Amino acid sequence: MKWVYIEDIGRHCGEDVEIRGWVYHKRSSGKVRFLVVRDGTGFLQATIFSSEKDHPLFHQFDALTRESSVIVRGAVREEKRSPGGYELCVQDMETLQIAQEYPISPKEHSTAFLMEHRHLWLRSRKQHAVLQVRAEVIRAIRDFFDGRGFRLMDTPVLTPSACEGTTTLFETAYFDQKAYLAQSGQLYNEATAAAFGKVYCFGPTFRAERSKTRRHLLEFWMVEPEVAFATLEDTIELGTDLVLFIVDRVLSRRRSDLEDLERDPKPLEAISKPFVRYTYEDIIPKLQEKGSGMAPGEDFGAAEETLISQLSPGPVCITHFPAKIKAFYMQPDKARPDLVLGVDFMAPEGYGEIIGGGQRIHDLSLLEKRLEEHQLPREAYEWYLDLRRFGACPHSGFGLGVERTVSWMCGIKHIRETIPFPRLLYRLYP
Ligand code: 4AD
Repeated sequence: MKWVYIEDIGRHCGEDVEIRGWVYHKRSSGKVRFLVVRDGTGFLQATIFSSEKDHPLFHQFDALTRESSVIVRGAVREEKRSPGGYELCVQDMETLQIAQEYPISPKEHSTAFLMEHRHLWLRSRKQHAVLQVRAEVIRAIRDFFDGRGFRLMDTPVLTPSACEGTTTLFETAYFDQKAYLAQSGQLYNEATAAAFGKVYCFGPTFRAERSKTRRHLLEFWMVEPEVAFATLEDTIELGTDLVLFIVDRVLSRRRSDLEDLERDPKPLEAISKPFVRYTYEDIIPKLQEKGSGMAPGEDFGAAEETLISQLSPGPVCITHFPAKIKAFYMQPDKARPDLVLGVDFMAPEGYGEIIGGGQRIHDLSLLEKRLEEHQLPREAYEWYLDLRRFGACPHSGFGLGVERTVSWMCGIKHIRETIPFPRLLYRLYP
């Protein structure tokens, strides 16, 4: 018999097939036994029918516990009342393992308990739906950049220097040297952009964030495009198109997961371009009007990010930040050198910043000055300075955080559920 996956079952109606999976749920009613099997791609009702009370399949059924692994074989037929619209009329069943008492039950569990059992929690319907959306978001990102002629460049994880400030570096021994886990692939991407024109890197990034928030992970995935000769405006357009592409893809391919998550799709359906834009200086009074205690010159906190999302039903782009609160590499505005050509995209509905980026300094002497001001060791950045010595050009890019984007798509308030095994302050297990 042919082994098929539940998500493809509709193509096998009337055929005899084999499903390999785990027991999700079971119940009996008279001469019928109902087994809901999950195989990772979906859930299927498998029905055992017999007028014999002592049928061997009934005994096998009785022994099954939640999450026992089984192979069921039988004919697929349409059944409107069964979830998914099909059922399997079981002719034969193999039990591979009778699972021990499963620790996760339908009753409420504390988050600490679920995080401790994350390796099992992943099997739950809601967690499964979130990670299906995550996989789709990642696929959409790759399709978007590959479809636009960007070259994928893998940047290193072990690096000799900081990209996003020295306070969130994870340090590790590199034989007799020190190395840091990459906070961003950007600096290397600036080199690959000068070699390939338009590039992106996509990988795990690390920040030793000591704060415990709903929006921060210590290890998160970021996609970072970088384009030679592009300006801040070009990068805002690229970021806007990427966000719209992802939203459209999730709505067209993962509706049933959004339904499982009880995520109202309407706010996502309403998103269109252009996104509302503010400069940093223009948005401060608006936030203060809404009750923010933030002083001009400070960076946004979580409260401000939430207030910003109340300014528009779609994402909000903020530009022209004070140079003091941004990274050393940001290009100053010609007319206002105290401001930099950076951009943050804030997600709607209070999901926080999803994109950070902007235009980079391409002038050698200015970059040298900034390294000094930020007290960064020049030797470690000599190669980066070379990019300003040999064919310097304006260039821009950004980073989009996968987990923040998935939180927003799924309507999940805490980022920890958007990655299979989140790394959080005080959590390294499992
Ligand atoms: O704004 P960030 O720090 O930008 C950079 O790292 C640039 N070097 C990117 C670039 O221009 N190539 O981070 C970019 C995005 C944020 O908008 C957010 O979505 C995500 O990365 N991010 C985090 N996500 C989860 N946990 C954290 N601790 C995050 N820090 C940043």
